[in-house]
Amino acid sequence: MAADTVGDRLSSAYEIVNVPEPYAPVIMKHGVAGKFVGPTEKESPWVPFGPNAAIRHLHFDTRSNTFSNVLWIKEKGVIGTHKHRGTVVMVCLEGSARYLEYDWVANPGDFIYETPGLIHTLVTDHPNGVKLFGWLHGPIEFYDDKGGFIETLDVWWFINHYETFCKEHGIPLNPELYL
Ligand SMILES: [Fe+2]
Repeated sequence: MAADTVGDRLSSAYEIVNVPEPYAPVIMKHGVAGKFVGPTEKESPWVPFGPNAAIRHLHFDTRSNTFSNVLWIKEKGVIGTHKHRGTVVMVCLEGSARYLEYDWVANPGDFIYETPGLIHTLVTDHPNGVKLFGWLHGPIEFYDDKGGFIETLDVWWFINHYETFCKEHGIPLNPELYL
């Protein structure tokens, strides 16, 4: 006898289904629309991050201090030692990356979860570097090679990074990036 699983009972109709929602007026009044960012630099440009890397910003949420982006380290190199005050979820898209502090290497498709309090140094040994999608929550503190504090990067820093570059290059700000 076949099990009556949820998967067997999902709608397979290739059409929009009307779903009951008793609080639709409240959601209409207070909810926030979802967002979509396409793949081109018109939707979001690569913004230089140091001499050997760039960030393609994808979302900023000032209410929860969360932000997401693709970090591109363009060749074998290092992104400085940093400390997390929040949670980070990353997926390796291209190339490879690892942390000096751990024994694993992230390759395309690999999943990375980082938690508050972690301190580590991101490197890529791949000749083509790495592209990492990241969903980041909370501040990230960066340090120099003597352990001296340099700067805190949070949602305000990331918005400023994106907007400053767009203004300098005459690129209109994309409202889809702002939750
Ligand atoms: Fe990290």
